[in-house]
Amino acid sequence: MAGNITFTMIKPDAVKAGNIGNVLAMVNNAGFRIKAMKYTKLSAEKAGEFYAVHKERPFYGELVEFMSSGPIVAAVLEKDNAVEDYRKLIGATNPAEAADGTIRKLYATSIGENAVHGADSDENALIEANFHFAGTEMF
Ligand code: CMP
Repeated sequence: MAGNITFTMIKPDAVKAGNIGNVLAMVNNAGFRIKAMKYTKLSAEKAGEFYAVHKERPFYGELVEFMSSGPIVAAVLEKDNAVEDYRKLIGATNPAEAADGTIRKLYATSIGENAVHGADSDENALIEANFHFAGTEMF
């Protein structure tokens, strides 16, 4: 059965471009409830730990550098079928391939600087939520 939470980050490019409000409005209009949220900045060490699964990929260094280059918004979102529905809302990883009306189509500039992160499974959504938030910070 599909879980009802997902984890997202509004990445440094979208924050820098002033799109926090636009992204959150789309999240809200798509029916997600915010369970937890923080405006923060990842250290290179924390970003590296978060994306450790990509450690062997050629883009890992670039990804860690970018994700620690400026503030982000981290959030846990709740909705039936949250992971799949959120991935539909954000669109393909590469904005060139993202469907019209998706967050990445509207606000991302490249595969590396792609505006938002979305968890790719129920299991990872939980791991990622717990990476960023204590139990007492989720409501
Ligand atoms: P995200 O959903 O946050 O998960 C892993 C990230 O790695 C992904 O979004 C992209 O931003 C980044 N990524 C994936 N493929 C590439 C690539 N070929 N070049 C640079 N960054 C990439």
